[in-house]
Amino acid sequence: MKEVYNFSAGPAVLPKAVLEQAQSELVNYQNSGMSVMELSHRSSLFETIIQSAETSLRELMNIPDNYRVLFLQGGASLQFTMVPLNLAAGKKACYISTGSWSKKAISEAKKISGVEVEVLASSEDKKFTYIPKIDREDVPQDAAYVHITTNNTIEGTTYYELPDTGNVPLVADMSSNILSVNYNVADFGLIYAGAQKNIGPAGLTVVIVREDLIGKVDVLSSMLDYSVFAKNGSIYNTPPTFAIYIAKLVFDWVKELGGVSKMEKTNREKASILYDEIANSHLFSSPVEASARSINNIPFVTGDKELDAKFNQEALAQGFENLKGHRSVGGMRASLYNAFPKAGVEALVAFMKKFEAENGGSK
Ligand SMILES: Cc1ncc(COP(=O)(O)O)c(C=O)c1O
Repeated sequence: MKEVYNFSAGPAVLPKAVLEQAQSELVNYQNSGMSVMELSHRSSLFETIIQSAETSLRELMNIPDNYRVLFLQGGASLQFTMVPLNLAAGKKACYISTGSWSKKAISEAKKISGVEVEVLASSEDKKFTYIPKIDREDVPQDAAYVHITTNNTIEGTTYYELPDTGNVPLVADMSSNILSVNYNVADFGLIYAGAQKNIGPAGLTVVIVREDLIGKVDVLSSMLDYSVFAKNGSIYNTPPTFAIYIAKLVFDWVKELGGVSKMEKTNREKASILYDEIANSHLFSSPVEASARSINNIPFVTGDKELDAKFNQEALAQGFENLKGHRSVGGMRASLYNAFPKAGVEALVAFMKKFEAENGGSK
């Protein structure tokens, strides 16, 4: 099999051990004579899978009992709509704008009648290269929530300190750093994440929500109503069964490796290998303010578009897949999620040194 290092921002690299286990039981799950993909979502075999996925996630994130865990579809993007629909009817919804995904969340919320959207702060003035600070006094205390994107996948920024919102619940799009950095779930009213980075295959979205925040809206389409999924154990309609099964295997893999704190430690080590190289290089630099640099998505540039393109082309030929920066930012971006191996970062750094020696350049 061709060996590559996959730096994709998502769908992203999955643990090989998980893929191999899935392969070994793909055709005949636990001697049932059926694949997981063929199991009824209401069968006891699948019920065990979804319940054990929830139990493992609760254990990994230390999720308090008064939070519900929902396995949904529609990607993180559907949460841009479901969050304001369920939590902010007739109220104000506040946002901190830190990148392309925050902007999308804001623009979707604005489409919902009866919800007043207020952007409390934005880092768009400097192309989202930093995380703006807000004070508790900036937060209207009658707001339904303050929405943040904990890790900005495209721009490569992250929150090192959560904003103080007083009694207003914090809602977090944690798509690109859930399970990779330790958070205290009780600091949030709601957390959501598309699965395709640190959890499993695309097609599954995880929502963790404080019980008292849901079921407040009289009439809501069932498929958009958190309380319907909460009441039905995420099996209101057919859930993405195979994606939930892989997520369960990934949760068990994270547990086996020592849990989220261990992941965070390893992720910090991996990121610092690349950041050290960027700091020491005369060719590569980070476009992101030092205080906000993400350990999960690391953009870097040469400052010359043609040289960036040459780097990307040569890197690809060496088996470094998906290093090209997002089309809105350019340059390069290394996404280093839980399943990305340390050896891959070391190999990238060795390649960067070689490229710099051959192409020179100054910062
Ligand atoms: C932070 C963040 N939010 C939202 C999304 C959108 O996710 P989806 O494609 O699952 O709708 C992404 C996708 O990469 C993301 O990185």
